[in-house]
Amino acid sequence: MRKNIVAGNWKMNTTVPEGVQLAKDVNDAVAAVNDLKCDVVVGVPFTHLTAVKAVLEGGKVLLSAENCADHDKGAYTGEVSAPMVASTGADYVILGHSERRGYYNETIEMLKTKVDLALAAGLKVIFCCGESLDERKAGTHFEVIKNELVGSLFHLDDKAFANIVIAYEPIWAIGTGETATADQAEEIHAFIRNLVAEKYGAQVADDTTILYGGSCKPSNAAELFAKPDIDGGLIGGASLKAADFMGIVTAF
Ligand code: PGA
Repeated sequence: MRKNIVAGNWKMNTTVPEGVQLAKDVNDAVAAVNDLKCDVVVGVPFTHLTAVKAVLEGGKVLLSAENCADHDKGAYTGEVSAPMVASTGADYVILGHSERRGYYNETIEMLKTKVDLALAAGLKVIFCCGESLDERKAGTHFEVIKNELVGSLFHLDDKAFANIVIAYEPIWAIGTGETATADQAEEIHAFIRNLVAEKYGAQVADDTTILYGGSCKPSNAAELFAKPDIDGGLIGGASLKAADFMGIVTAF
């Protein structure tokens, strides 16, 4: 059975003390939920990983980084490797976010390398894919998503693929307040699950967690999560306030 997951993506927000406080608030709120129906993950900046890990120790909330380098170690000033992320005690790393692809020119090939390095370091990967507004208008969104998944993930064997969570994030819905409708999201999620089934078989596809991201908030989470192929969310803006984030966590 696949897991439901609600993961926060704090992006480049909060100082370390602010992040520690937010993590404490989320950790306490999650501990107080009686029948938690999903795994909860917080995705935090590199600078926060160790301090947030200390806050989460012994609790239920899992920890993610938002990126890692496309090299294992060495002379890459300013980069942070997958083994470094893993050594903080982080469970996950978010890879392929459209902001990384768009602002930092991360390519399908580079992301394939990052995925391999993350898995080799023992991290699970939340792998983002999604189309721009122009691509959706042109009707190429299915092809764009397929290319992103095939190019960066489908070289993995079944065992490695079990450590991948896919996040569908239409770029036009990220931080814009414009959510994909539950039906629009479900259409793509079913398409993604079908691609996974064609490559890895029905059982692996059934076990794969596929998250929706893009202006997900307490008011629309329940409708999105009610769809058969939407297994939770990757949450940006609404993960920065514990009460909003918890409104999504408890939406199942
Ligand atoms: P948003 O961001 O919830 O602020 O739209 C989602 C994301 O980029 O992961």
